[in-house]
Amino acid sequence: MRTEYPQTFFSIEVIPAPSVIIIFGATGDLTRRKLLPSLCQLLANNLLHQETHIVACGRTVHTNDSFHSSIKEYLSCSSEVKKCDLFKYINYLRVDPAEPRTLRDLSARLEELGQLDSSAPLNHLFYFAVPPDSTEPLVTALAREGLLVEDENKGWRHLALEKPFGTDLASALALDQFLHRHVTEDQIFRIDHYLAKETVQNILITRFANRIFESIWDNRAIDYIQISTSETVGLEGRNTYFDKSGMLRDMIQNHLTEILMLVAMEPPVSFEANAIHDAKFELAKAIRPFTQATIKTDVIRAQYSAAGKTLGYRQEPGIPADSQTETFVAMKLLIDNPRWQGVPFYLQAGKRMNTTDSEIKIVFKPSSRPIYGSAELAKSLAPNSLTLRIRPDEGICINLQAKLSGPKLAIGNLRFNTTYGEQSTNLGAPDDYARLLLDAMLHDHTLFVRGDTITESWRIFTPVLEAWQRAPEQYPLLTYPAGSQGPDFDL
Ligand code: BG6
Repeated sequence: MRTEYPQTFFSIEVIPAPSVIIIFGATGDLTRRKLLPSLCQLLANNLLHQETHIVACGRTVHTNDSFHSSIKEYLSCSSEVKKCDLFKYINYLRVDPAEPRTLRDLSARLEELGQLDSSAPLNHLFYFAVPPDSTEPLVTALAREGLLVEDENKGWRHLALEKPFGTDLASALALDQFLHRHVTEDQIFRIDHYLAKETVQNILITRFANRIFESIWDNRAIDYIQISTSETVGLEGRNTYFDKSGMLRDMIQNHLTEILMLVAMEPPVSFEANAIHDAKFELAKAIRPFTQATIKTDVIRAQYSAAGKTLGYRQEPGIPADSQTETFVAMKLLIDNPRWQGVPFYLQAGKRMNTTDSEIKIVFKPSSRPIYGSAELAKSLAPNSLTLRIRPDEGICINLQAKLSGPKLAIGNLRFNTTYGEQSTNLGAPDDYARLLLDAMLHDHTLFVRGDTITESWRIFTPVLEAWQRAPEQYPLLTYPAGSQGPDFDL
């Protein structure tokens, strides 16, 4: 019997309750490039409650008008929403944690908004679009004003925090302890914007909703997994930050490790946020720690050198001529649990590369019986693989071996490649930051990072950072020409 299934699927977007979004760092780059366009997108899709207020806070002196003019060009929402529509939600307020009076002004502003004729208590989302060293003074100042206290009559008080969450294990633990003195874990929304990318959100669905993958997701079928990201851009004006951070802290410890956890974790007991975080945490604990020996054999670091008109890393403004900071990292990780015993996970991230792309590639073992008994033929074909493309062209590619049309023995690779965009099921989902803003207001932690998985991730990488710091001469810093595929290496 044939069954027709409808092509539609379960899809609901929920409008958050009346809220005030308080953005710290409102004159900064993140607010302009990401938050404002995402707020526009939410407005354009009717996903902001009409009783939403945005209090844009910064240390710069601005009137509402001068602030609005300064952000006009960044409000690139869809053509149906006129640029100024978002303006009526946004008010500017000068706030500097070093000046308690300005915090009292914020408190008074929030009080006033709370007294407006609102249908429900006004919730507060405090968004920290500020450098990491501003987080603690701001949280302390907000706590002093009593602005972080939740109760039924007041609504919720959420903190949306941007990475980095510490620079090593000790500082990450200290930051968590500090935060927990003022708020509960439930109030904290730690952002890793990669988790909100369409492909990354799709990892769990691909794995657990499809029988064809569920049953082959282990060391019996999988040869290795590679999670990689390349960017053609260099430092993008963040030279001082990057030289202190380096690629391991900037991309590997957070974005790529979060992806690894989703790709490799056991099925969660439910699809509630905490169950997913529990499964990620268990997986992170099973990642084999690096030793002095494996840091040498299994971790590659490199820095780009000048090529053509492009400056080398050490010639970039403000970068010391002897900087040891890595702009490229590749590494092999092993996971000590029954599912993954013996399967290498390769993570790789580089700046000033020849392309901008990010993907997760799952490569399967060769078939147990070479086709027509010919080991030679089997070797000449690319193995089965499943590629989840994060950018560009978010989508999926499956590589199969098949008989191609033509002569009887025309066997070759057949690629099934699709982008989410070209599927009729594409509903124009909110972009990554719009998704995160929405979910932080909807109290959904799924796409945020729980504190314990961050500290686990620092547990894995801190020994590497310490070894590089302690004895740099023992861990060669390779070079690669800017705009190339990265260094030559073997893992
Ligand atoms: C950020 C890193 O977290 O992610 C940047 O700090 C990097 O160095 C960026 O360029 C990449 O994000 P996306 O969304 O452009 O892939």
